[in-house]
Amino acid sequence: MINDIARTLITEEQLSVKIKQLGEKITTDYTDKDLLVIGILKGSSLFMSDLIRKIKLPITIDFMIVSSYGDSTETSGIVKILKDLDKNVEGKHILIVEDIIDTGLTLKYLQELLQSRNPASVKVCTLLDKPSKRKQNIKPDYVGFEVPDEFVVGYGVDYAEKYRNLPFIGVLKSSVYKV
Ligand code: IMP
Ligand code: MG
Repeated sequence: MINDIARTLITEEQLSVKIKQLGEKITTDYTDKDLLVIGILKGSSLFMSDLIRKIKLPITIDFMIVSSYGDSTETSGIVKILKDLDKNVEGKHILIVEDIIDTGLTLKYLQELLQSRNPASVKVCTLLDKPSKRKQNIKPDYVGFEVPDEFVVGYGVDYAEKYRNLPFIGVLKSSVYKV
């Protein structure tokens, strides 16, 4: 697995420092608010579990599973909900937790869907942001790291469902996906 990684982009240590800072900021911003943190599976699973432990508030959590059609390194913008939320979100402050925002098509769809259910607010926290590839005007409210236009994996982020268990974020060798 490690032989497929061209270089490390973000170390375990950098991830942990940044996630603590994000948790503190979210804690401050949502004090006295009814916060529902929604993790988008599977990519955000590791980030979500570390992040919520740094939020020192009585939050609730939920998960959605979405799949965007396309080949394995490009998104098409057509989003399919494979698992929806368990509960009604009306009146709640929603924080969507994503692994990476690339074109922004997935998130745009999700934001509009959740907004239509009358929550108190909808904000977005993404671990990684790849702004160079944006097709939708989406600005995440909380960003861990900006990444260059390269295909990254690790810490929940996959290529063809693999590499999610790498403890750091690395750039995948292009030889792995270009045949
Ligand atoms: P968007 O709709 O283009 O913003 O797509 C976001 C989704 O595409 C993410 O949740 C990832 O599943 C996937 N994705 C985008 N860039 C990368 C990458 O560099 N590595 C792995 N997955 C990526
Ligand atoms: Mg993916």
